Amino acid sequence: MIKKFLAVLFGLVLGYMLIDDFNPETVKGKNVFITGASTGIGEQLAYHYAKLGANIVITARRERRLKEVIEKCRELGNKEQTYDYIVADMLDLNSTGNVIQTVVNKLGGRLDYLVLNHIILLDLGVWTGSQHNLSLIDKVINVNFQSYVYLASHSLPHLEESKGSIVVVSSFAGKFGQPFVSIYSASKFALDGFFGGLRQELKLRNCDISITVCVLGFIGTENAISQLESYKQNLLLKLVTAASPSDTALQIIRGGAKRVRQIYYPMMQVFPLVMLRDLFPEMCDTINRFVYTLNS
Ligand SMILES: *[C@@H]1O[C@H](CO)[C@@H](O)[C@H](O)[C@H]1NC(C)=O
Ligand SMILES: *[C@@H]1O[C@H](CO)[C@@H](O)[C@H](O)[C@H]1NC(C)=O
Repeated sequence: MIKKFLAVLFGLVLGYMLIDDFNPETVKGKNVFITGASTGIGEQLAYHYAKLGANIVITARRERRLKEVIEKCRELGNKEQTYDYIVADMLDLNSTGNVIQTVVNKLGGRLDYLVLNHIILLDLGVWTGSQHNLSLIDKVINVNFQSYVYLASHSLPHLEESKGSIVVVSSFAGKFGQPFVSIYSASKFALDGFFGGLRQELKLRNCDISITVCVLGFIGTENAISQLESYKQNLLLKLVTAASPSDTALQIIRGGAKRVRQIYYPMMQVFPLVMLRDLFPEMCDTINRFVYTLNS
């Protein structure tokens, strides 16, 4: 009985998610700010937004990389679009207000999409409770969580005016605690809590800002691959197919443009376990652990 119910439910959700009503025109001429855009998914987001005719400002810490990404955006997009960058370190929460003000000025006073994508890069590892482990908490929560809240907060007046969107790039690890990245998992769970609450408040206030949380699985960015390789997660690398960062970026843009509350990508990799985790937690944990290797 419950199996049948789940099968039907799954079919319905799957069917719904496969309906593609994305209209690329809706992104044309929109003003977009992307964080963590010097590499990986953020970089690909910049290229797709450029191709789709959006005006973009990107940020990260490395100016040289930002310049290169902007250069490529220029080649991919039209001459009339705006392409610009601002160098910022998301550890510095105090500067986030200034970052948003500068971005909005560069975009001629309007912001349509705030795309939050940056993370602090961490080595994978077991949480033993060491002093080193504990010293990571502040930095990870600061960059992966608090800076998202700060940037979103400073953007709210602008997004309210434009009836804009907040796009939060999160992770399977933000729905399902993952080994070797437990503090990262915690920071991503925190995003779900905050933006879930904020979404409800916006509805209560009749404020037309959409919030899309992107639940991503294994995406083949250079950083993800090299982290998994150096931590010898050979089984995972062999068994789980990495999605391309470019395809992932496009799915994120579609989700934001369609103003959906959540996207799961690659869907079959993340959605079943997220859906079943509260019903069958032990079973889901066991399946999940199967791809991980404990290295001494
Ligand atoms: C941010 O501002 C507060 C209050 O002005 C100050 O106490 C704090 O040290 C500042 N933090 C940084 C990282 O500059
Ligand atoms: C936690 O600390 C131990 C001992 O210092 C270290 O081996 C491990 O890699 C650390 N874990 C993380 C996630 O940094």
